[in-house]
Amino acid sequence: MLKGKNILLGVCGSIASYKSATLVRLLVKGGANVKVLMTNEAKSFITPLTLSTLSKNPVYSDYFNEATGEWNNHVDFGLWADYLIIAPVTANTLGKLANGLCDNLLAATYLSAKCPVYLAPAMDLDMWKHPSTQKNISRLQEYGNIIIKPRHGELASGLIGEGRMAEPEEILDFLEAQLKSNLPLSGKSALVTAGPTYEPIDPVRFIGNHSSGKMGFAIAEELSKQGAEVILICGPSNEKTINKSIVRIDVGSSSEMAASVELYFKESDITVMSAAVADYRPKEVAANKIKKNDNELSIDLVKTVDILSQLGSIKQTGQLLIGFALETENEEDNAKQKLTKKNLDFIVLNSLQDKGAGFKSDTNQVTIIDKNLVTERFALKSKPEVAKDICQKIIHLLNA
Ligand code: CTP
Repeated sequence: MLKGKNILLGVCGSIASYKSATLVRLLVKGGANVKVLMTNEAKSFITPLTLSTLSKNPVYSDYFNEATGEWNNHVDFGLWADYLIIAPVTANTLGKLANGLCDNLLAATYLSAKCPVYLAPAMDLDMWKHPSTQKNISRLQEYGNIIIKPRHGELASGLIGEGRMAEPEEILDFLEAQLKSNLPLSGKSALVTAGPTYEPIDPVRFIGNHSSGKMGFAIAEELSKQGAEVILICGPSNEKTINKSIVRIDVGSSSEMAASVELYFKESDITVMSAAVADYRPKEVAANKIKKNDNELSIDLVKTVDILSQLGSIKQTGQLLIGFALETENEEDNAKQKLTKKNLDFIVLNSLQDKGAGFKSDTNQVTIIDKNLVTERFALKSKPEVAKDICQKIIHLLNA
């Protein structure tokens, strides 16, 4: 969620300032670009060197930089930031921010910033409870600032009560949850299948296919990036999930995939069946390894359950169902037939006639056909880019 985001971290003088080091570390680890503005009082609690080393950027406190002879431009900081977090923010700084005072670089930057502002107060319980602090908090909330409330616990004074700054991990979770709630697929659950299925012949052999799972994994990542809660059911694949919030369920055969999909489909707002499910499986699975006693060997195959068709027959209003079609001839006609037969909202067609499309490759060229037969043909793109196109179509249909 934080990858590539510019985060300005303000640090005020409080015993909780030591927690800022961990917060910087977590933000950087999450992929954010972090710059720290600290008040001069904060330097009594934590050194600029610590925060500079962890943030991999200079730390700023004063309007004027003695070393370079330049001024530290608070307007530029305000424009640079995607988010301003002040953690810890003291009662003193809250008072300044609530009243538009700007006698230091941090307070001036706050006034210049156009981005969302998060404030994590830290102070003794009586200071926190004081009507003037509470008035300042209410006023800052009215201005649109987001308060990360202090926690209850033992305070530096030895008293027990509300006033401890939220832990860095809690601040990070809070921030990520906020960012997520603004995404287009926030609150939606998605079910994605990926990869091949392996249909066992005997304990050591199977019937499989060349699907790598790359397309399905890319779709799962993109849905998750757009805010959906994603369950990824995948057949045997070497691919790895990046986003930790994706719940991955590994399966082997088509019947295992069907059973897993059945468990989660009802709760799913968006289902994308990108798995290359085997159409046939051996009628009998030999209990022991088949010996090569004969010159010829026949294996009887029976149809597997068509998972997508089953889902299409039980789909409820409001549920989006998306299928894939891999074709070699009469591509669009075949895809349209599957779209209707399986009761899909749209189908993603790959043609093996197109170079760089289909299994194993890192690229794909797709045509999306929706249930109104609106057809969009896309250029050859990387699979993550194709996943973006598919997600945009999903977002468009959900908002229609
Ligand atoms: N699919 C499925 N269960 C199966 C076979 C396929 O859910 N047993 C799904 C795939 O995940 C894909 C879609 O159905 O989303 C299209 O599969 P495909 O094999 O191309 O279509 P079929 O209807 O099986 O037709 P054919 O193989 O004859 O082209």
